[in-house]
Amino acid sequence: MIVASREAASMSSRKLAEQLGVEVVLFKERIFPDGEIKICAQSPKLLSGEDEVILFFDLYPEPNSRLVGLFQSLDIVRDYSPESHVTLIIPYLIYARQDKRFLEGEAISLKTLLSIVEGFGVERLISVDTHNPDAMREYTRIQFDNIAAATAIALHAKEKVFGGRDFIIISPDLGGVERVRRAAEVLDLQHSYLRKERNRHTGEVSVSPTTTIPMYGRGVFLLDDIISTGGTLVKAANALKNMGVEELAAGATHLLLLDRADKRLFEAGYTRIIGSNTVETPYSEVSVEGLIAEEIRKS
Ligand code: R5P
Repeated sequence: MIVASREAASMSSRKLAEQLGVEVVLFKERIFPDGEIKICAQSPKLLSGEDEVILFFDLYPEPNSRLVGLFQSLDIVRDYSPESHVTLIIPYLIYARQDKRFLEGEAISLKTLLSIVEGFGVERLISVDTHNPDAMREYTRIQFDNIAAATAIALHAKEKVFGGRDFIIISPDLGGVERVRRAAEVLDLQHSYLRKERNRHTGEVSVSPTTTIPMYGRGVFLLDDIISTGGTLVKAANALKNMGVEELAAGATHLLLLDRADKRLFEAGYTRIIGSNTVETPYSEVSVEGLIAEEIRKS
């Protein structure tokens, strides 16, 4: 087994390789003045003869150019190691939210991405808290393993934010309820969800309460897969404050935090933001390399 990775991977593929006790081949990226990119593997011969290549590729930020880098890297792996089993690790799976045709004529971006990856003969795909794991299984025959960092994030919140105090874990939408249900079960806490509606033409989001669980005077940990603009969680905070919630903290596996979303979250009343290091931010308090290594060792 060998690990291969972008040279500039912000999440350390070296740490992963260390945990697995194997070597790393690094893929160096060059960007030309016209925006084209070229990947070049350092010591590519190390790939030859390996029975398994674990390609670790972080695709955020600059998702579109990194995708081209991923395709070139997969091609290099295939050329130098045609017989190997290839496992692809994408900690934050980009394009996963466009998992269906919401409006007539739209691309199903997730399906497009998966069919290209499948075309390179990838046999296993590992990701962390993918937006909709069921859609993954619908669009590809590749073995898909979804790692639950959300549970580790909720545990961290329990220890570092709420201390011994009681709190409830809430998903801002129905789609994320399974993620919070699992975390709440492990931590022996209550969970619930809010109703989120999105106008597919304008992108406008509204969030309203659904829960019949009493909220007055309680602490809430809002847990989502992604915080992008922060709009969802700001609206969730407003709905929950109207229900008398006393303490609010925000968690998400992938913290994109666009346009100072962190500032907007603090202004909305969150006292803390906690996320994983699938995207590096000052709030990435939970590391996922260990969870990924454990998942690889399982097979
Ligand atoms: C979408 O359904 C996701 O689960 C997140 O709720 C969404 O991406 C958050 O985006 P934003 O922070 O821009 O509201």
